[in-house]
Amino acid sequence: MNRQIWLLTGGAGYIGAHVAAAMRRADREVLVVDDLSTGDPARVPADVELVAASVLDTTELADVMKSHRIAGVIHLAAKKAVAESVDRPLHYYQQNVHGTASVLQAMSIAGVRRLVLSSSAAVYGVPPPGPVTESTPTTPINPYGVTKLICEWLVRDAASSLGLSWIGLRYFNVAGAGDPSLGDPGVANLMQLTLQALSRGSRPQVYGRGHDTQDGSCVRDYVHVADLADAHLAAVDHLHSRDTTRAVYNVGCGRGYSVLEVLAAAQRVTGIRRPYEVVAARPVDPPSVVADPARIRADLGWSARYDLDAMVRSAWDAWQYAHTPALTAR
Ligand code: WQD
Repeated sequence: MNRQIWLLTGGAGYIGAHVAAAMRRADREVLVVDDLSTGDPARVPADVELVAASVLDTTELADVMKSHRIAGVIHLAAKKAVAESVDRPLHYYQQNVHGTASVLQAMSIAGVRRLVLSSSAAVYGVPPPGPVTESTPTTPINPYGVTKLICEWLVRDAASSLGLSWIGLRYFNVAGAGDPSLGDPGVANLMQLTLQALSRGSRPQVYGRGHDTQDGSCVRDYVHVADLADAHLAAVDHLHSRDTTRAVYNVGCGRGYSVLEVLAAAQRVTGIRRPYEVVAARPVDPPSVVADPARIRADLGWSARYDLDAMVRSAWDAWQYAHTPALTAR
């Protein structure tokens, strides 16, 4: 019998490539659709078919689903830079919201009824103090977070009419790297900017030390991209074993680290010591966003394996892999 294949949109991206690798390591069949606007085909495993196409091309998506035994879709293809979403909201609505609607339309045409949706802790905006559960009010504060929430609503409302089983994964702060060749987040987030500063001899920056946290710097729940990839595998297996699943899950460690703790880990792991520089806080920056991962642990049997130092070390290995000349400049 032909093995069932999962269609992975955005599989040539940083997270997508790690999901594809995890699926193959678990001997699951996967096919990647990616428009290669930011994705790198070299990241796609050699034994995985790559179709260069946009998720906005509904006809192409439906044709791919009909011509393969697609068991379900893992939909990661989206724009994910918060600052860019503020500058280009319409682009984010078109790519993220319209893109998800196109995926759902193609699934309806092809009769595909399982979906894993990439969502984000950005849907919570500035959550109330304490661990964030899936019942925490969703009040996004930027166009990126709004598009992610609308995508969840799209899938929820389409599910009943299309007979979909679906799982939404709300990523907390993704960091680290699996195989160094799979690259880095490609967005200017804390860990990347800190490693860049240390490797170039400049001072890592702390965006404000007046936040309502223990050391005054912001706290986030960092989750290793390899752990995040495994959460997708757990979601795929759950959807295979259950007929009607419709739920969202926080994907985080349940442990927060402050900016200062991340900087200390980066200096510990790289052996490069630089004084940090406190600069102005961002206009809106939640003091603390830490997941309560109880539901994903109970339902999908997933919990994070890697700690902060492991994330920083893997990110540093990937950084060095990608920026070897920088090492001599250190
Ligand atoms: C973390 C903390 C900064 C850089 C995340 C993801 C983003 C998106 C939304 C996608 C913040 C502080 C940062 C620096 C600093 N997720 N900081 N100095 O803002 O939580 O956004 O969620 O689904 O991709 O990154 O993450 O890494 O930008 O910042 O002090 O040089 O570090 O203010 O408090 P953020 P981040």
